[in-house]
Amino acid sequence: MEYDVIIPAAGSGTRMGAGKNKLLLELNERPIILHTLEVFAGEPDCSKMIVVIQPKEEKIFREMTVGSPYEKKLAFVYGGAERQHSVYNGLKAVSTGIVLVHDGARPFIRRPVIKQLVSEAVRSGAAIAAVPVKDTIKQAVDHEVVQTIDRSSLWQVQTPQAFRLPILQQAHEWARAEGYLGTDEASLVEKKGDISIKIIKSDYDNIKITTPEDLYFARAILEKRAQ
Ligand code: CTP
Ligand code: MG
Repeated sequence: MEYDVIIPAAGSGTRMGAGKNKLLLELNERPIILHTLEVFAGEPDCSKMIVVIQPKEEKIFREMTVGSPYEKKLAFVYGGAERQHSVYNGLKAVSTGIVLVHDGARPFIRRPVIKQLVSEAVRSGAAIAAVPVKDTIKQAVDHEVVQTIDRSSLWQVQTPQAFRLPILQQAHEWARAEGYLGTDEASLVEKKGDISIKIIKSDYDNIKITTPEDLYFARAILEKRAQ
């Protein structure tokens, strides 16, 4: 089934502390964002990659991708102050019935997961990638433990998140009207409350490159995959 993917890439990388957008940092001598784009570039069902960028970085992103084999699949859209605003802007460029949202900062997503997400979104409307929580999770107030949360029902959520287009559009419009800000797309759909969201088990190595140590993990993942 054909789909467009919105790739938010308009962040500042504050937690990485590199003094620039972390997606421009290199892994194997190529910017992180190119690793992410290449995954979807190789997906025949992906018709368009809508990359959401900051206006001041447009030249860099265009120059990085000009002449690439997937140039025709690319569309650039300007982002907003928060990730949610960036995705909202990206939604306006979608022209397929199924839409995926995938963080530019997750270059290690595997194709079978993408395929399962798309199938599930077609079938039920909304599907997200996630992995079971491995650690013991405790709730605390002022560094004092309140309780241990039963982790058997807990999932650590990733992207991609896949939706039938009207479901995500309506959830975003609802969030805008309510002034609700979520940390992922599914939370908007959940809060709006009228459809169930399915989980597709993903991989622990689909990390979001966020803090400096994630670059070490990222290099190790690349090395392992090259073997
Ligand atoms: N993003 C975006 N628009 C924003 C903020 C974030 O498109 N206003 C994108 C980032 O570029 C990233 C993804 O959303 O690909 C996930 O965000 P995050 O990991 O938080 O990246 P940053 O916001 O760049 O990092 P930080 O929060 O540390 O500043
Ligand atoms: Mg952020």
